Amino acid sequence: MQEKTKPTIVLAGGTGFIGKHTASYFSQIGYQVIVLTRGENRYENAIRFVHWDAKTPDNWWHLLEHTSAVFNFTGHSIQSVPSEANRRKIIESRIQSVKALTTAILRCQSPPPLFVQMSAVGYYGNTLHFCTERAPMGKGFMAEVCAQWEKTFLEVKLPATRQIVFRLGVVLAKDGGALPPLINLTKLFLGAPIGSGKQGISWIHIDDLMQLFRCSLYKHTMDGIYNITAAQPVSNKMFMKSLRHILNRPWVPSVPSFIASKVALWGMKTDPEVLLTGCYAVPRRLAEEGCMMQFNELEGALKDIILR
Ligand SMILES: NC(=O)c1ccc[n+]([C@@H]2O[C@H](COP(=O)([O-])OP(=O)(O)OC[C@H]3O[C@@H](n4cnc5c(N)ncnc54)[C@H](OP(=O)(O)O)[C@@H]3O)[C@@H](O)[C@H]2O)c1
Repeated sequence: MQEKTKPTIVLAGGTGFIGKHTASYFSQIGYQVIVLTRGENRYENAIRFVHWDAKTPDNWWHLLEHTSAVFNFTGHSIQSVPSEANRRKIIESRIQSVKALTTAILRCQSPPPLFVQMSAVGYYGNTLHFCTERAPMGKGFMAEVCAQWEKTFLEVKLPATRQIVFRLGVVLAKDGGALPPLINLTKLFLGAPIGSGKQGISWIHIDDLMQLFRCSLYKHTMDGIYNITAAQPVSNKMFMKSLRHILNRPWVPSVPSFIASKVALWGMKTDPEVLLTGCYAVPRRLAEEGCMMQFNELEGALKDIILR
């Protein structure tokens, strides 16, 4: 049974890396959490999991009535082989879930006052320039995915719901996302820069991300698109240097792009674009809102995560 006394938030796709952190965080600070999943209905650690198909607002839409916010984390992993079928899944899973949630919110008599949609700084493509939220869309598949994702989210104006896009940088945590494999490689003396090593890594500490989710609930001025990154993005070369430093590993030569592409495709079953491209996104709108982050400098963030 949904508890009446607690404020409720809904996490679509909340079984993944960021969703699990968010569910546990909001649960700990006194929220009732409902997770929409393609898995089975169940309760686990006081979190309610409700089945949906991530496409149609069927028998779950009424759960959004009287809730405080909806956060959407849904999407087929970008860490998959760049086949036509996977690329279609990556785009469709994101767009269909946005549409289903939008329709569900429009059906509510008492809709959630906040809908937060994840996107990514991949929107800016591969660039060495600093990118505020005003920077133009870049080139490449990830930029195209983000543009379609955000357009679908923002093209329907919800009358009673603030709509926020979180353009996430690489989310750093010990238990998921991009960091654990990099830690493992570095421990094996394979923590090399990739390609030119100049590609930007815009990153955010998982704890800061949780604070920003909470902030979005209370800061009613927040609306529209935000870069969700630490103030100091770094190059891939700097990132790997910091990791090696913290893990006490010596310098290793860069992996040439053509080898990295092959390793990405055949070893990691991942689109080489993920490894070889990047950008230097900066959180200008968060700064304007006065949202402070605890970790803006990479080495401090990595030490906190790895050595804590
Ligand atoms: N992690 C990062 O550093 C990062 C950076 C930038 C942007 N993002 C974006 O933020 C969102 C959350 O990231 P995450 O790392 O938590 O992702 P994740 O671990 O892959 O979780 C995504 C969730 O989406 C659901 N899902 C997966 N494939 C699906 C499909 N084909 N159709 C419908 N639902 C599907 C799954 O939930 P069920 O199986 O329970 O349905 C899964 O738990 C993603 O959209 C991601 O692209 C993440």
